[in-house]
Amino acid sequence: MTQDELKLVVAQAAIAYVVEGEIVGVGTGSTANFFIDELAKIKHKVKAAVASSEVTAARLRSHGITVLDLNEVTSMPVYIDGADEITPQGAMIKGGGAALTREKIVASVAEKFVCIADGSKLVDVLGKFPLPVEVIPMSHAVVARKLNALGGEARLRMKDGEPLLTDNGNMILDVHGMQILDPLTMEAEINNIVGVVTVGLFARQGANVCLLGTAEGVKTLQ
Ligand code: 5RP
Repeated sequence: MTQDELKLVVAQAAIAYVVEGEIVGVGTGSTANFFIDELAKIKHKVKAAVASSEVTAARLRSHGITVLDLNEVTSMPVYIDGADEITPQGAMIKGGGAALTREKIVASVAEKFVCIADGSKLVDVLGKFPLPVEVIPMSHAVVARKLNALGGEARLRMKDGEPLLTDNGNMILDVHGMQILDPLTMEAEINNIVGVVTVGLFARQGANVCLLGTAEGVKTLQ
């Protein structure tokens, strides 16, 4: 199976976690896009969605799915999203699509985080994928120095020759060369750096369930 076929099968499997008549939180990225397209097929069964990015909101709306502002929502049973890396314990690196802050916020309102990923995302130790950190633009240089002092090599994410700006108007530092042996401690340490908006480490609130696409079928880790 191709990577896209694996993403599709986990997206299809995630539909079983959508609660009828309720609001569903929706992530960002290519795997989340497969999920959105599957969700469209049962859109009459859900009340609405909350999106973790402008791109996801636009795709949901293009299917006729109502998108609510998170400020109008007090609870949702499930948030469904991809990951760049995930451990068997459910700690993740996210933010390859630059949506980490909104992803973490929407996930924080959900009772359950269901991660959908192709098997290549499963790792024992996080950090081979560069760790995204969203920063306030005026602080990117000072934050980069502090991240480098933690043992990584922070690089400003660029797009078309300019620093990439997130949906929140911030910048992303991608930290290369980190071996994240203690994700919980590292998440807290990086979040404590002044100028950091969010680190793309999801350990304090990791995935409750991971649907992993493999050649042998969808494996459920929980
Ligand atoms: C976006 C994310 C994505 O979930 C992550 O990058 C995985 O993306 P994909 O499903 O395209 O592999 O965190 O900010």
